[in-house]
Amino acid sequence: MTANNRIVLTSDHTAIPLRQAIAAHVSAQGWVVVDIGPTAPDSTPYPKQGEAAARRVATGDCRFGIILCGTGQGIMMAANKVRAIRCGVCADTFSARMIRQHNDANMLSIGARVVGEGLALDIVDAFLTAQFDGGRHTPRVEMITALEA
Ligand code: RB5
Repeated sequence: MTANNRIVLTSDHTAIPLRQAIAAHVSAQGWVVVDIGPTAPDSTPYPKQGEAAARRVATGDCRFGIILCGTGQGIMMAANKVRAIRCGVCADTFSARMIRQHNDANMLSIGARVVGEGLALDIVDAFLTAQFDGGRHTPRVEMITALEA
């Protein structure tokens, strides 16, 4: 685990139970969970939640962000608009591992209407235990960052 052991979690209204399951799962592993809601099932726009979580990661307050909506797509798009964020949607463990190893992703997005809880927790584990490979991947990630200029 890294020195910053804080993970920000958020979702829209479609993914509250799965988000809470992920929060309990990573908390049991020793991560400090910063859950920024929502808790009520009222309609909550995913862009607002994605942005709020992304800012926690971009400022360094949290090492990683895990964000959820129905598909995982909309909230990922919002998060990736924030400078320094590299967020991928994953519905399989291979992709979750590779976005860390090759893309140095700092946020993971999951679709609560796409994957069940068991697979979602495996995806989270794959993401959190993988390390960035560096090497030939470093200049490629730097090219992504350069697009922000
Ligand atoms: C909400 O109905 C749904 O659009 C949202 O959860 C997400 O799937 C958007 O990308």
